[in-house]
Amino acid sequence: MNGPDGKVSLIVHGGAGALDPGDPDGAAHVAGCQAAARAGHAVLKAGGSAADAVVAAVTVLEDDPLFNAGTGAALTEDGAVECDASVMTGQGAAGAVGAVRDVKNPVRLARLVMERTAHVLLVGAGAEAFAARQGVRRLEAGALVTDRMRAKWQAAKIKATTPAGGGTVGCVARDAQGHVAAATSTGGILMKLSGRVGDSALIGAGTYADDRAGAASCTGLGEAFMKALGAKVAVEAMLAGAPPDAAARQALAAVRRAGGDGGIICADAAGRVGFAFNTPGMSRAAISTAGVETSGV
Ligand code: GLY
Repeated sequence: MNGPDGKVSLIVHGGAGALDPGDPDGAAHVAGCQAAARAGHAVLKAGGSAADAVVAAVTVLEDDPLFNAGTGAALTEDGAVECDASVMTGQGAAGAVGAVRDVKNPVRLARLVMERTAHVLLVGAGAEAFAARQGVRRLEAGALVTDRMRAKWQAAKIKATTPAGGGTVGCVARDAQGHVAAATSTGGILMKLSGRVGDSALIGAGTYADDRAGAASCTGLGEAFMKALGAKVAVEAMLAGAPPDAAARQALAAVRRAGGDGGIICADAAGRVGFAFNTPGMSRAAISTAGVETSGV
C-alpha cells in the first residue's frame, strides 16, 4: 500500500471472448465500459472508497444489456439467468454470491454478504433468501432475460453447442487513501448446467485484492481460472514486483496451462493499471492517476 496521496485510478472490463457480430468493431461495448469507468471514477474523485467505486462501475455494466451480467446475462441449459458476483477490498473484506436468480444487481448483493454476514459466499436459494431479508427487491422470473440472449440460447439449443462464455464484467480500482478493491459479475457461460458456479463468484479465482500489492478481476473460461486461481496469481505477481500488465500476462499463462483463455485487469497499490487477454477481444476502459482515459476492445 502506498498510503493516502489522493491519487485515484481504475480499469473496467466488459469481458474477453469473440467479438460480438452485432457490434463488430466493439464500439458499443467500449462505450459501455467507458460509462462504467466514468461512474466509478466519479465515486473516487468524490472521496469514495475503492470498494464503492468498483461496485458502482460493475452496477453500470450489470444494467447494460450488452454485457453478460445482470440484465442480459447468459442463459442456463434450461433457459434461466443464474448470476455470480464477488467483491474484495485490499483490506481483506470479501463477499460473493453464486447462482442467484432474479436479482438485478448481484454485485450489490455480494457487497451485502461482505458487509452484513460472517460469510464470504452465499449461493442459490440461500443467497436469494438473504437478499429478501436485506430488502433487495426480487424481480419477476425471467426479467433479466433479454431478446438477444434468448435468441442466442435458442440457436445454441438447435445446434446443440457446448457451453460458451464471454461478456463477464469487472472493475479494479485504487482510491485516494491508497486502498484497492476488485469486483466481478457474470451470467456465466451460455448453456451451463443450472447450479454451475464459475470463477466470478470465487475469491482468488475471479476476484482478488491486497493493499500490499493490488487488485485483479478476471474474465474467461471460469473452470480454468478456478484451477489456476487466476486473480490471486496476478496479485501475487504484483506483490513480487511485476507491473500490472506483466502480472496479468503471468496469471493468464497459468490459466492457459489450466486449459482456458480469457483476460485479466489489474491495478497496483501505486494506482498503475494494466491488462492482458488472449482471446480475439476484451472490451475495456481505464482512467489513470493523471486522469487520462484509455479504452479498447
Ligand atoms: N468467467 C465467467 C465464468 O466462467 O463464469
